Amino acid sequence: MKIAVIGTGYVGLIQSIGLAKLGFDVYGIDIDENKIKMLNSGKSPIWEENLEELLNKHNGKNLKFTADYGVISQCDAVFVCVGTPQSEDGTADMKYIFAAAESLKPYLKENAVVVIKSTVPVGTNRKVSRLLDGSGCHVVSNPEFLKEGSAVDDFFNTDRVVLGFEDRSKHEARDTMMEIYKYFYNNKTKFVITNWESAELIKYSSNSFLAVKISFMNELAKICDKTGADIGDVAKGMGSDRRIGKDFLKAGLGYGGSCFPKDVNALIKQFEQNELNAKIVSAADEVNAGLIGDFLARISKRVSKLEGKNIAVLGAAFKPGTDDLRESRAVELMNRFLLEKANVKCFDYIDGALKNADALFDGRVEVCRSIEDAVKDADAIIIATEYSRFNDEDWEAIAGLVREKLIFDGRNVLDKNIIAKHRFEYHGIGR
Ligand code: UGA
Repeated sequence: MKIAVIGTGYVGLIQSIGLAKLGFDVYGIDIDENKIKMLNSGKSPIWEENLEELLNKHNGKNLKFTADYGVISQCDAVFVCVGTPQSEDGTADMKYIFAAAESLKPYLKENAVVVIKSTVPVGTNRKVSRLLDGSGCHVVSNPEFLKEGSAVDDFFNTDRVVLGFEDRSKHEARDTMMEIYKYFYNNKTKFVITNWESAELIKYSSNSFLAVKISFMNELAKICDKTGADIGDVAKGMGSDRRIGKDFLKAGLGYGGSCFPKDVNALIKQFEQNELNAKIVSAADEVNAGLIGDFLARISKRVSKLEGKNIAVLGAAFKPGTDDLRESRAVELMNRFLLEKANVKCFDYIDGALKNADALFDGRVEVCRSIEDAVKDADAIIIATEYSRFNDEDWEAIAGLVREKLIFDGRNVLDKNIIAKHRFEYHGIGR
């Protein structure tokens, strides 16, 4: 089967490469000619574990990248994986979705399946279907649940495949989708077959529910700080109840990245558009928005004046294992330190994250290639990205390099015993 995937960002690229590994003939389409050139030469525009290796294994064989929508005329399925960024008013901007639909329409084969994989507000699949009216295609909603940092692994080990049809009995589209996803017929993968609207909402509510979990823990961390309870132990105790689950209970600087902040806002807006009030999700957003200010206030209280102080920020990406700086809490923190006229250095384990930080800060932050360079003469060390690898660093050497042995751990990752051994003053969040 030949499949086209429109968009070569995180979602589209992983989808193209994943489907190629499953044996399909895949065309990755993007309007950005530079990206196409880069991909055809075997270079990935994003860093993700195992991504470039897989790309090179299939590139030029059963995986081809092109800017020409014409290849769609050979395909049985077309996955739409373009971005749905946040508009100024908080709603999801659908311009790329509708532009992609317009562009693919002239080339659709009779009975082709158009699969909307991008995160889209409720009602979008119906609108796309109307737009494609007369082409004889079938529209299917198939939201994606990949996490950055483990995206390739998530593709092959997904918990669920959600398929939303206009009508559950639309067999032509259903057969094609089942053929594409037959690798996932196993005991671990749940297939959820539903209508367009439910599938669209499953995506927003999954991300928003996880955001609520995180904000709940961050709120709880505040009472831990006041009372002497430890948020890590509280999370462990709560998470041992299978009904609650142990994941996404980590308190810290809150959620960032290209998905949670945008999707939470888009869900709030969808409630508003339906004359409803998303009280719980709005509260999660409010808690998350206040965390950087709270953290900074704690630092300022201890350091007194940040102006002229050397601040070492460890971590730049929004989470470990990615070069993605979008909505990174580390970046937000660094911007706030710069506003206070502190001298900021940063470090990240991922080379691409350092390159992106270089481009973003353009000399305003000293981007360091080693932890040692970053902490040299530091008045305070800030842990901003959740790397447990920080525990394996040579803290004795670090202690000898800093000006003040002071750590603010915004991700609660450091082993307090290591820190105590090297006599650092340690401030975590709710611990
Ligand atoms: C998220 C979802 O987890 C994916 O299922 C979804 O497919 C994806 O968005 C998307 O919509 O495309 P991602 O943004 O890659 O994935 O990252 P997460 O691992 O979910 O982390 C998001 C943020 O939450 C990070 O800033 C992380 O540091 C923070 N977080 C996570 C916490 O603060 N505490 C936790 O316990 C877990």
